[in-house]
Amino acid sequence: MVLDAMQNDPQGELRQAALLLLAEKDAGRKAEAVRRLSECGAPRLDSEALLQPAGAIPGQPERPLLVSPREVKKRAMHTVEGRAALIHALVHIEFNAINLALDAIWRFPGMPEAYYSDWLRVAGEEALHFSLLSNHLKGMGYAYGDFVAHNGLWEMVEKTRGDPLARMALVPRTLEARGLDVVPAMRARLLQAGDVRAAEILDIILHDEIGHVAIGNRWYNYLCRERGIDPIVTHALLATEYGVPPLRGPYNFSARRAAGFCEAELSELAGRGACAMNMAQSDTI
Ligand SMILES: [Fe+2]
Ligand SMILES: [Fe+2]
Repeated sequence: MVLDAMQNDPQGELRQAALLLLAEKDAGRKAEAVRRLSECGAPRLDSEALLQPAGAIPGQPERPLLVSPREVKKRAMHTVEGRAALIHALVHIEFNAINLALDAIWRFPGMPEAYYSDWLRVAGEEALHFSLLSNHLKGMGYAYGDFVAHNGLWEMVEKTRGDPLARMALVPRTLEARGLDVVPAMRARLLQAGDVRAAEILDIILHDEIGHVAIGNRWYNYLCRERGIDPIVTHALLATEYGVPPLRGPYNFSARRAAGFCEAELSELAGRGACAMNMAQSDTI
């Protein structure tokens, strides 16, 4: 139904279209439509409009059943079911990542045009990641919805709905940046278990996610400059205010550096005091 509305208005406005797609419940249809929207050039943009969702967002399929993170079991990599459970968890993260990129587009009016085109690019890439992983899951004999999942990523999107500064700080440059840290070890485990295709997909994802975190950094720093506040001090204050648990290593310093974190931030993360340190020795990839 959501997509029918978009098809009736192919020249529709970008932020309105992002809101419609966010409400779409069917994950496959959502991913497909987001890919099409991201590939259609430069859609019409009304960056000032104040929009309201017509119904519940995000649209979610009936399955997977959403549970608390504690109820998502870790499974052994030497069984197909165990590997499928891991791929399923990644499919769900990518589903939420499509939704978070769409939410960044419709939710916050008054940003420069490049902000919206950046997040449209992210949405398109998340939709690609979702499709690659869900097809791989199908090849293993499972489908999205066959395992339970947790919604930690979306919960932080919800918490930060009132302020694009908090959103940029805590979603792309905290939670998506966490993905940069954990993907290399996950890739190694899958490869060791013989899943070469999963490793190839994770290579694509890691490459693209560096870009997503860079976009988070770009707009976080833009908003800090606009408000005349210090990015490092502000990030720490926001993490406390919004209850982000302290990060733990190992960190992927080379990927974080490529995503635009400055040396002072990387040094602080490593807990080694400020600046003037060669971090290359600590790289995890
Ligand atoms: Fe992704
Ligand atoms: Fe991402």
